[in-house]
Amino acid sequence: MNKIPECSVHPVSIKLLRAGHPWITADNFSLRFPRHAEFVIALDDRKRPMSLLIHDPRHKNIKARVWSTKYPFDREAQHFTASLQARLDLAFEKRAALEKSHARENYYLCFGEADQLPGLFVLRLKDRVLIQFYTGFWLPYKSIIQTTIQEVYPEITDENVWFQLRGETKELQKLPQNAVDHNRKDEFHLNEFGMQYLIRLGSSYDTGIYTDMSSVRDALTNDVDENSSVLNLYSYTGAYSLWALKRGAKNVTSVDLSPKYIEWLQQNLALNPEIDSHRHESIVKACDDALAEMAAEGKTYNFIICDPPSSSSDGKVRTSAIKAYKDLIQKMDKVLEKKGKLVIFLNTHQVTAAKFEKQIADYLKELGLNYKISKKLGLGLDCPTLKGFPEGSYLKGMMLEKL
Ligand SMILES: C[S@@+](CC[C@H](N)C(=O)[O-])C[C@H]1O[C@@H](n2cnc3c(N)ncnc32)[C@H](O)[C@@H]1O
Repeated sequence: MNKIPECSVHPVSIKLLRAGHPWITADNFSLRFPRHAEFVIALDDRKRPMSLLIHDPRHKNIKARVWSTKYPFDREAQHFTASLQARLDLAFEKRAALEKSHARENYYLCFGEADQLPGLFVLRLKDRVLIQFYTGFWLPYKSIIQTTIQEVYPEITDENVWFQLRGETKELQKLPQNAVDHNRKDEFHLNEFGMQYLIRLGSSYDTGIYTDMSSVRDALTNDVDENSSVLNLYSYTGAYSLWALKRGAKNVTSVDLSPKYIEWLQQNLALNPEIDSHRHESIVKACDDALAEMAAEGKTYNFIICDPPSSSSDGKVRTSAIKAYKDLIQKMDKVLEKKGKLVIFLNTHQVTAAKFEKQIADYLKELGLNYKISKKLGLGLDCPTLKGFPEGSYLKGMMLEKL
């Protein structure tokens, strides 16, 4: 193996690396890393080696990610393949109990940086795996990753292994592609908490279910029952709606702007004939319009779920979800019964959980509304987070109870 280049990094990067942050972003230092180097050793302010990095000169923002902080780094790089396999095995072991429980057929087998596998995510979807690369660094390691997975899970056949290059840049947002056939599409059903969902691989960027939300649905299990009247805002393909119906909710209304996702939701409902679909209503509309109409008609609910995209645009102005929440909370309050529960989410690493809570508390005060936080929600179980790495804990939520 060639000698690994030792490179100075930005003083801010040194600080961040010391605090456990695993990324080196684009700056005057990282843009000068030797382009062809697969690994780079980051030097601290006294020119001492501090981290072994995996290098991705083509990524727009994240130029390198921490692989190891254990000396000697040349040996760490020599043993890279063995360490990759060992880290994957460890990540799989951590999910063994989840697999055994059979509560759901969708879970992350490895969750990137928090599993010490920077930019590498493996999503188990029934008897398939979707391997997601957030850095092109992993492309030459496709077959090692695939083999390691299949050694532990021999039931996953070659045609059921899917790869997807993802990232912040549009260019990286490619559709999942199978290793053997680039034009293949795949549709199948999987079970999450006793309900069947239609999953699509290959035809779209979306698979049909947000698996990072699965453990949150589980955490809310005891909050919905036969007395619940549920409003699922920004419903997507209806995972929260079906989950609530399964919990026995007396009625569930789903609202989403996208006819495609509402159609998908209807297909999901049809996959579960034991559910009385008369208890469900779908509305294709912008949530704030739907809420205004519901309030005018005097409709009420005792459990509202609100999971908006991190930002949205009306064609002219882009509004962040955190800003939109003031208006949304006011509108949701009008249709929420007294003692009702409001579950709100924010999907961005740019606002911390503490800031989100403070902002919501401020809005409630300004609006003169009386609520208490009864649960805090976030990524969990198969989606661990890493201390010092806010980018990895993008999902935050809370349950508010109307007093
Ligand atoms: C983050 S996804 C929700 C995921 C869902 N909570 C789940 O766990 O399956 C956001 C959804 O909001 C929808 N959407 C975006 N803007 C909207 C709007 N103004 N009104 C209604 N739905 C909207 C999108 O079509 C998308 O389905």
